[in-house]
Amino acid sequence: MTFEHLRAETFGRLLVVTIDRPDRRNALTHAAHYEMGEAFDRFEADPELWVAIVTGAGDKAFCAGADLKEAAATGFKSSRPWTPPSGFGGLTHRFDRRKPVIAAVNGVATGGGFEIALACDIVIAAESARFGLTEPRLGLAAVAGGVQRLAREIGPKRASAMLLTGRLVDAAEGLALGFLNRVVPLAELMDEARRWAGEIELCSPASIAATKAILAACDGESIEAAMRAMGQLDAYKAMQGSPDRAEGVRAFAERRAPRWTNPT
Ligand code: COA
Repeated sequence: MTFEHLRAETFGRLLVVTIDRPDRRNALTHAAHYEMGEAFDRFEADPELWVAIVTGAGDKAFCAGADLKEAAATGFKSSRPWTPPSGFGGLTHRFDRRKPVIAAVNGVATGGGFEIALACDIVIAAESARFGLTEPRLGLAAVAGGVQRLAREIGPKRASAMLLTGRLVDAAEGLALGFLNRVVPLAELMDEARRWAGEIELCSPASIAATKAILAACDGESIEAAMRAMGQLDAYKAMQGSPDRAEGVRAFAERRAPRWTNPT
C-alpha cells in the first residue's frame, strides 16, 4: 500500500500505519483522513492481516489532530465530507471493527489525534507522550467520539477535568487515569507494541472478533448511539454554527489568542 501522508507496512499478520507529516506534528489534512480510511478499509478486508499498530513519524508527535492551517485556509470546506465515513483518521467512526488496533503513542496526541488513540483497543505510550482534547481552546469540541470514549473510560468527573479545560496530561497521569495500558521509554515503544500484537496473533481471529463484539455490547448505550445522539443536541448545532469555529483555527494559524463571541 503506497500513500502520500502515511506509511503502511505489513509484517506477516501485522499492519503498521505510521502517520508521516512530522513537520506539522502529524496533523491530518482532509486528504490524509481519506488515506487513513483506505488503509484501515484494506486492513479490515484482508484476511491475511490480523492486527494493526498506528503510530506517528518522529519523536515529537503521534498526531496533533486536524491540520489547523488547512482548516483556517479552507474553513473545513471541501467538495466531499471533511473525513471519510470511518471518521477522524479513518478510525473514530468505525464501530464494527473485527480486528484489534493498537495505538503506539510516540509523542503529543491532541484533539483528533487523542480521539484516534481512544478509538483503539490498546494504547501504549512513550514516557514523553502528552494527551489532550484541546478542541474547546479552538472553538471546537471533541466530536469524533472523544467526549463519549474518555468519559466511559475514566469516568465523567475525571473526563470533565480534561474536557472542560483542554489541558494536556502526561503519560504517567494518563496511566493513572486509566486511558493507557502501558507506558515505556520512547526507544522501547514499537517493540512493546509489537509484543502486544504478537500476543493477539496467538489468538483465534474469530474469537477476537466475537470478544470485541461482546465487549461493545456489554457497555449499555453503544458509543455509536451516543455519537449519533450528539448530532441532535441544540448546543452541538449552535457550536457548529458559531463564528468561534472559524476564529479558533484562524487564531492558531496566525499564532495569536482567539477572540471568542459570547452569545448570552
Ligand atoms: N495543524 C497544523 N499545524 C500544526 C498543528 C496542527 N494541528 N500542530 C502543530 N502544527 C505545526 C505548528 O504550526 C508548527 O509549524 P511552524 O513551525 O511552521 O509554525 C509546527 O507544527 C511545530 O509546532 P509547535 O507548536 O512549534 O510544536 P510544539 O512541539 O511546541 O507543540 C503541539 C506541539 C501539538 C502541542 C502544538 O503545536 C499545538 O498545540 N498544536 C495544536 C494541537 C491541537 O490543539 N490540535 C487539535 C486540533 S482539533
